[in-house]
Amino acid sequence: KPRLYSGIQPSSDSLHLGNYIGALLQWRAMQDDYEAFFSIVDLHALTNAGHDPSTLAAASRGLAAQYLAAGVEPGKSTLYVQSHVPAHAQLAWVLNTITGFGEASRMTQFKDKSQRFGAEGTTVGLFGYPVLMAADILLFDAEVVPVGDDQKQHVELTRNLAERFNARFGETFVVPSGKYPEEGARIYDLQDPTSKMSKSAATDAGLIWVLDEPSATRKKIMRAVTDTGSDVRYDWASKPGVTNLLEIYTAITGLSVGAAEDEFAGKGYGDFKRTVADAVVGELEPVRARALELLADPAELDRLLAGNAARANEVAEATLKRAYDAVGILPRG
Ligand code: TYM
Repeated sequence: KPRLYSGIQPSSDSLHLGNYIGALLQWRAMQDDYEAFFSIVDLHALTNAGHDPSTLAAASRGLAAQYLAAGVEPGKSTLYVQSHVPAHAQLAWVLNTITGFGEASRMTQFKDKSQRFGAEGTTVGLFGYPVLMAADILLFDAEVVPVGDDQKQHVELTRNLAERFNARFGETFVVPSGKYPEEGARIYDLQDPTSKMSKSAATDAGLIWVLDEPSATRKKIMRAVTDTGSDVRYDWASKPGVTNLLEIYTAITGLSVGAAEDEFAGKGYGDFKRTVADAVVGELEPVRARALELLADPAELDRLLAGNAARANEVAEATLKRAYDAVGILPRG
């Protein structure tokens, strides 16, 4: 089976609906057809301004519980914590040496984050974030990388680095492709449907958290901003609020946009939102319940993560050795 790689940062206790739709729904669907590796990218999370050492470990464990609850099956896939596999940081260093300062400077996520984080938060680690991500992917010879479309530029950088490395040092890495969901490639904030749903929003009124109480989720959807007019139509330009809800609805139900528009023809926004809320709660409620159940036994989760890290480590070590050999490093005798 071809290899697949993806990851999420443990940057808060709970995933939000953007992560869930942009990443986890795809992962669940793809894990039968690929040998999949799903990581909890804790080293990446260190680059966030306001990183809090007292919450990171619990967030990593919590993310593992949510992966499992959302349907990642440890019998089929490998799920592990990035820092448990040392080769990530090691390969990132090698890739740093072939990454142009200019090309890294062009990453829009870096530019956005450095604006938000200010001078103090704009660290070399933040600058190197996409290079570490490239190392994640290349270590596993991944052919496919399912992510939300905000990660396209990082996947393109990864492809460029793999090709450059192979050309300069000989065939070493598999050149990966990104896979972006057709529906729900990007989920927007329910209160501000022109900015993407992100934990950095000013308030969380427009964010749905996987671990929210179902009643809170329902309330947020009922209060989502809609647009002038009353028809439910897919149109980002004039109806971003409604269109975002349609995007969420179709991603979860698997309906086409046309079928969803037909379903709501002649109905008002109230009915529409109630139906979307039912679908979202129906999807997330069992995931939340299962995640909380798993978190009740942290020792068992940690055991599972250790076993999976050992598996990931074997693959990663072999690739790192190939890369070290290719650049001419003296093997430890
Ligand atoms: P992170 O934690 O920022 O995002 C995790 C995943 O969620 C998707 N996503 C969204 N999708 C749709 N709508 C949104 N509003 C939304 N917000 C986030 C992201 O596209 C992503 O798929 N840098 C990666 C983590 C990473 C990674 C990797 C991914 C590190 N190494 C290797 C793949 C392969 C990231 O964006 O994390």
